[in-house]
Amino acid sequence: MPLVVSEIVHETPDIVSIRMRKADGSPLPAWQPGAHVDLQLITRHERQYSLCGDPRDTASYRIAVRREELSRGGSHYIHAFLRAGSTVWVRPPRNLFELGDASAYLLLAAGIGVTPILAMARHLASIGADWRMIVAARTPDGVAFADEIAALGERASVHVSGERGRLDLATVVGDIAPGTDVYACGPAAFTDALLTLAPTLPEGSGIHLERFEPRRREFGPDEPFTATAARSGVTVEVPASRSLRETLEGAGVAVTGSCLRGVCGSCAVPVLDGAVEHRDSLTVDDDARVMYACVSRAREGSALVLDI
Ligand code: FES
Repeated sequence: MPLVVSEIVHETPDIVSIRMRKADGSPLPAWQPGAHVDLQLITRHERQYSLCGDPRDTASYRIAVRREELSRGGSHYIHAFLRAGSTVWVRPPRNLFELGDASAYLLLAAGIGVTPILAMARHLASIGADWRMIVAARTPDGVAFADEIAALGERASVHVSGERGRLDLATVVGDIAPGTDVYACGPAAFTDALLTLAPTLPEGSGIHLERFEPRRREFGPDEPFTATAARSGVTVEVPASRSLRETLEGAGVAVTGSCLRGVCGSCAVPVLDGAVEHRDSLTVDDDARVMYACVSRAREGSALVLDI
């Protein structure tokens, strides 16, 4: 849907927040904390951004965008050219980072990862949940939404690593009570470090991560494999040089895609048969029967049957 940029605010020297509305002021589709939107610019760049406003505000969406040194185009365009009054195209919100039921919540964010975490904190505060939030940044002026974090009270804190040293995640996570769920968003180094602490969590606790960069992992060379789209009645040979998603699309079987890096979840495909090498950054169980067709492939020697 086309939306009009109604406000751009410089939250830090490198982060702008952008508020968007429908041109006629009509209500936007509802969302829950943790949701993101796919934003498409006039340049055709498409990226996912977490919603960081108030879900009760049905008139506008707010996202925040960090200036990226190695921008793939979207961040650079937004910082250099996007202005109030510009039109952007937004798919309705999707939530792959939903808050589940827990007896308590530890919310952790680093840098621009504050966006979904801030919305979660606000929601948990509004329902009287037991929660705590820590937002890490290198410098004091690198903390986006500092006023809004402060307004959440003493359950929310900021850790400036340039002043106090790197946030000791092992200690922070080691302090939680059984039944506390950890929700975290930040750069790969931050989320990867948290994942290594998963075995140390107390009983009944879990870690839920939102990534905006793929997990750093090594895989063997891409090999060709066979995939059958059972409902479409189409079988394709996926060459080493192409993704499953591209190959299916070339054969007339459309699979939605957005990030094409295995982080957004929009290309999820149910798997009926075959062994999958999950190369995405979303799957937590290697035996999962859903695969992300932009990056994941068949395991060596296996053919896949898909429910599409
Ligand atoms: S397109 Fe984003 S996970 Fe595949």
